[in-house]
Order: sequence, then structure tokens, then C-alpha cells
Amino acid sequence: MSNKDSIFFRNFSILLAALVVLTVALILVGMSMQNNLVANIKSEADRSAIAELIKPVAAVNTDPNAIVELEPAALAAAFDGSLDGEMIYNNACAACHVSGAGGAPKLEAAAWELRLAQGMDKLVQHAIEGFVGDYGMMPARGGNAALTDEQVKVTVEYMTAHLE
Ligand code: HEC
Repeated sequence: MSNKDSIFFRNFSILLAALVVLTVALILVGMSMQNNLVANIKSEADRSAIAELIKPVAAVNTDPNAIVELEPAALAAAFDGSLDGEMIYNNACAACHVSGAGGAPKLEAAAWELRLAQGMDKLVQHAIEGFVGDYGMMPARGGNAALTDEQVKVTVEYMTAHLE
């Protein structure tokens, strides 16, 4: 072995020994920190405070009862639930039924004679569910889905009571 090699060996051995000492020292420091931490978590309150700090930000909701209920407002009937057939007719039906657009029967007796013969229930049902006849297409609830069955019914009653 050359002189240089033995110098290297000696220095390298010192370095290794120093690293071993450092490692042991760090392990000891780590252990004492851990002991301090555990010693500080004494009470149940500490534990729940820690649990609160490290809890996940979100969780999957598996509660079937948690399905969001529709806001009552979203289900509210058209025109605040009004049962004023004339007002509903003017706002939701007149666009077609006054002009006869698309084959809609105007409020003229002749146009309703055969329709009335079906009976009121049938007329109301056609107005609620929509109806395609010989003249054109009557959209369900006149195209206003927020109208209740009752509102459509009073409107049909208004229409059939005002034939000229
Ligand atoms: C987009 C145009 C349109 C609107 C809006 C409309 N209707 Fe009609 N309606 C029609 C047409 C077209 C017919 C005729 C269909 C046929 O007989 O071929 C009709 C027919 C009817 C009939 C007769 C059904 C039958 O059995 O003969 C009733 C009752 C009626 N509409 C009620 C209403 C009411 C109530 C509204 C408002 C809530 C309304 N309509 C809005 C187009 C419309």
C-alpha cells in the first residue's frame, strides 16, 4: 500500500466513524422529540384536537337520506298557483288560441263543437298531456310545465265557457 492510500484509508475511516456518531446522535434526538410529543398528548381533548387538525378535507357521502331536496320554490306552480283561468289563458294559451297559430282552435263555438263532444275530462287531459290532432300539435300544458293540473283545468273551463 502506498503512503497516499494509507492516508486516504485513515481519513475515510475517520469520516465513517463521524457519520456513525452523527447517525446515533440523530436517532437519540428523534427519540427524545417523539417522547416529548407523546408526553404532551395527555388528554382526550388533545387527541380530538389533533384528529380535527389532520382530518381529510372531504369524504364520500354514503348517506342515502342526504340527497338534496329540491327547493320548494323550484317546484312552485306558475303564476303563484293562481286559479284565475282568464289570466292563465291570456298568459299561457292565448298566443296560439287567439290567432289560431299552428291550427289551434280559436274560441269560436264551431271550432269546439266536436271537441266539447269528447267531454270535459278528455279536453283537460289533452291540455295537460299534450295532444296531436287533425289540425296541429297542442303542447303539454301549453308548453308551460310549471302549470299544475288544476291550473290547466280551470283554464280549459274558462276557454270553453267563453266560446263565441
Ligand atoms: C303552441 C301553441 C299552443 C299553445 C301555447 C296552447 N295550445 Fe292548446 N292547442 C293547440 C293546437 C294546435 C290545438 C289543436 C290540436 C288539434 O286538434 O289538432 C290545441 C288544442 C287545445 C285543446 C283542445 C283539445 C282537444 O281535445 O280537442 C284544448 C282544451 C287546449 N288546446 C287548451 C290549451 C290551454 C289550456 C293552453 C294554455 C295552458 C293551450 N291550449 C296552449 C296549440 C296550442
